[in-house]
Amino acid sequence: MDSSRREFLKTTAAAGIGTAVGASLPPAHSPLPGRDGTLLFRAPPMDRVRIGFVGVGGQGSSHVENLLTLQGVEIKALCDIVPEKVTKWQAKFRELGRPEPAAYTRGPRDFERLCAEQELDLVFNATPWEWHVPICLAAMRNGKHAATEVPAAYTVDDCWALVETAEKLQKHCVMMENCCYDRLEMLALNLARKGLLGDLQHGECGYNHDLRGIKFSTEGEGLWRRAHATRRNGNLYPTHGLGPVAQAMSINRGNQFDYMVSMSGPSRGLQLWQKEHLPQDDARRNEIYTLGDVNLSLIRTMRGQTIYVTHDTNLPRPYSRKYVLQGTRGLVEGWPRRVYVEGMSEKEDQWDPVEKWFASHDHPLWTSEKVRTASVGHGGMDWLEDWRLINCLREGSPTDQNVYDAAAWSVIGPLSEWSVAHGGRPIRLPDFTRGRWKATEPLGIVAG
Ligand SMILES: NC(=O)c1ccc[n+]([C@@H]2O[C@H](COP(=O)([O-])OP(=O)(O)OC[C@H]3O[C@@H](n4cnc5c(N)ncnc54)[C@H](O)[C@@H]3O)[C@@H](O)[C@H]2O)c1
Repeated sequence: MDSSRREFLKTTAAAGIGTAVGASLPPAHSPLPGRDGTLLFRAPPMDRVRIGFVGVGGQGSSHVENLLTLQGVEIKALCDIVPEKVTKWQAKFRELGRPEPAAYTRGPRDFERLCAEQELDLVFNATPWEWHVPICLAAMRNGKHAATEVPAAYTVDDCWALVETAEKLQKHCVMMENCCYDRLEMLALNLARKGLLGDLQHGECGYNHDLRGIKFSTEGEGLWRRAHATRRNGNLYPTHGLGPVAQAMSINRGNQFDYMVSMSGPSRGLQLWQKEHLPQDDARRNEIYTLGDVNLSLIRTMRGQTIYVTHDTNLPRPYSRKYVLQGTRGLVEGWPRRVYVEGMSEKEDQWDPVEKWFASHDHPLWTSEKVRTASVGHGGMDWLEDWRLINCLREGSPTDQNVYDAAAWSVIGPLSEWSVAHGGRPIRLPDFTRGRWKATEPLGIVAG
């Protein structure tokens, strides 16, 4: 990021004016080229996609398993700070009769060596949050496309760094938001694009998942995720809920986020867990958490629509992403899944079961038998997102989610923290497209 933008950020934050971050600055680089000067970047098509995968823990292993089922994929290198995780995968490749990927296990920056010396098309990472940006930047700087797990970044500077690097080096930088591919969210996108919900007015979404056990685990996410709760207070994981709503509302493609307010409640859940589950001599009993158990953020778009986003991971509760997409003619809701469209639903003012709408308006990607039987990754949506990414790269078409989506959806994290820290004051949301969202067509009903 250039120094003028950094200065601008510092001054506006210090003045507490919550102004548009970077919005008034001229573009640092030209936009990614696309049809008609839009933001729909295409890279040259490729017959096969040579991949280096970084971070083969829980979610990374699920991606690797999916990628192994796809045509035109070669996984050439695997990287993890735990060597056994890589050797386990190498053995599995041998068992499957696939060429064994090279191992990169010399510590937390060994992905740099992977990016520098391997001939790859894509570096895909599913590492802890602090590594997403360094890995994506190393990939692009070494001539590779980048794909990352969510959120892509958790500082405003890092969001800009991803955008500016992708633009400058003309590379894809895709955040893998799998919830955009879940069946309900895709049904809603399909209904919205067909105009059956009318003009979209409102969305509700969130990440509401009791992670207490996971945060205190001595492996996997327990090794890194709880630490964020000791120093950050806001919506730390906004993209699962927000991504699909933003996509339906055509954010970055004819519409844009305008501003946001955010509030957090008290922080009690992790403290209670500490006391009730950890032995007296466990050092983790001394940790102090700042993350409010429930964070509520409200976003307004340039078209005046409202979006309510929650983050609720420290209290007992069944899983939900809430999900409401509401227009002038009807709405889709999640958890439980149901639909109401005026004049089309069975009875006036009464929900239809979602199955009725799946039968008549299932998204085309969900009608494939392959998806229905995909066993790995959150009921099929992870397989779909991996398949779509590989398809787009092989065809040389724009990816469903691009670097502007990665930045716009992820920046809700740090700017919710800003608003919480300033008594819920409104903050303008940065336009990472620098106005070019106006000329970009909405994502259509992606069919294959
Ligand atoms: N989309 C989803 O539904 C979903 C679900 C779970 C996790 N995630 C995301 O996936 C990412 C990973 O989460 P997880 O649950 O798999 O966590 P995890 O802890 O199980 O896996 C992370 C892996 O990265 C490795 N690692 C850590 N630092 C590294 C480094 N510098 N270089 C190479 N490897 C490194 C760890 O050893 C581990 O194997 C996170 O960003 C998380 O938010 C997404």
